[in-house]
Amino acid sequence: MDKYRDSKKITDTAPDFYGEPLITLPDPDSYAMSIRATALVFADPASLRLLEYIERIAPSDATALIIGETGTGKELVARQVHKLSLRQNGPFIAINCGAFSESLVESELFGHERGAFTGALNARTGWFEAANGGTLFLDEIGDLPLSAQVKILRVLQEREVVRIGSRTAVPIDVRLIAATNINLAEAVQAGRFREDLYYRLNVAALDLLPLRERPGDILPLVWYFIERYGKRLKLNNVNLSADAEHALLDYAWPGNIRELENIIHHALLVSKNGNISTGDLHLNPDFGISQRRRSATTKGSSSLKSLENALATLYEQPAENLFDAIEEAVIRTAYAYCESNQVQTGRLLGISRNILRHRLKRYGYLT
Ligand SMILES: Nc1ncnc2c1ncn2[C@@H]1O[C@H](COP(=O)(O)OP(=O)(O)O)[C@@H](O)[C@H]1O
Ligand SMILES: [Mg+2]
Repeated sequence: MDKYRDSKKITDTAPDFYGEPLITLPDPDSYAMSIRATALVFADPASLRLLEYIERIAPSDATALIIGETGTGKELVARQVHKLSLRQNGPFIAINCGAFSESLVESELFGHERGAFTGALNARTGWFEAANGGTLFLDEIGDLPLSAQVKILRVLQEREVVRIGSRTAVPIDVRLIAATNINLAEAVQAGRFREDLYYRLNVAALDLLPLRERPGDILPLVWYFIERYGKRLKLNNVNLSADAEHALLDYAWPGNIRELENIIHHALLVSKNGNISTGDLHLNPDFGISQRRRSATTKGSSSLKSLENALATLYEQPAENLFDAIEEAVIRTAYAYCESNQVQTGRLLGISRNILRHRLKRYGYLT
């Protein structure tokens, strides 16, 4: 277990029984920030696949959409994308769209001129302008009112912002990363989220699995937080009883990594000289029997299952030419996912380039 304690560099390796590297950003202590946002622990095969994908899309300027339950590390991943991008020296600005009232959110994002509305005593730059040359992370994007959604789409397309009350457009160079813990596709269906913005955001989709579906991350994270908090509490030799370890592995982690971090911090505070036993773990008894085993479906098959459910909903109110509409949706989303690359889209869907081009023409993408 001691090997968990020396994980400082990206190249560090995890304990033998995982056989997978454990990833942390270099020297988290050199950051003035708290533990948040300074380190990434990825050990489960599913997380390693995600990490590889992050590394692949980060250097591009592609807009990304991060999807995951609360506490799964969405903000941390967004920071990682920024750090691995060519914008790494520019600002990274994180905004929670749910934190502003509907009337304020547009002025926060786009800024306003003096006198633009009652109470606008001074001009103010918005977050898009503040993030110029860097990355803007919009958390809880599903909370944005439709009017702000239209404006964001325009900013992305025109690459300029117009402050409220102004007629002049300010050119901006910002990469947008959005995150959501709700199913945006459903929000689109329900008319609460604009479909065009959804496709524009969803160019690179980063799915963060709940912790219970990537069990290989649990112990590396436990030891990572033991190391971090143990240092603060001046506990040098922390020990985890076998029972405590089982309880952590069997727990369903409804609050994901944020919850795990709190549980470990608390356990260290109440433990006797750093000997953590089951009684020190403040686990919610309702989630004690891991749902992991029950929901041990692979991500692919559970995604297919949700697709089938979505289809079943469509069958309840069948549209005209339903098959064509579904086929079009499949091809359009794949084409957007592959950043309009025909060869990759064909390969992804397993269809010939001829068929693909024929469909793309029909949908008006090609002339
Ligand atoms: N892979 C990870 N490795 C280490 N710490 C993580 C990881 N993912 C998340 N965390 C930590 O868990 C907490 C929640 O992460 P955060 O990015 O705020 O989640 P979300 O935005 O999805 O709610 C933060 O303290 C973060 O540093
Ligand atoms: Mg968050």
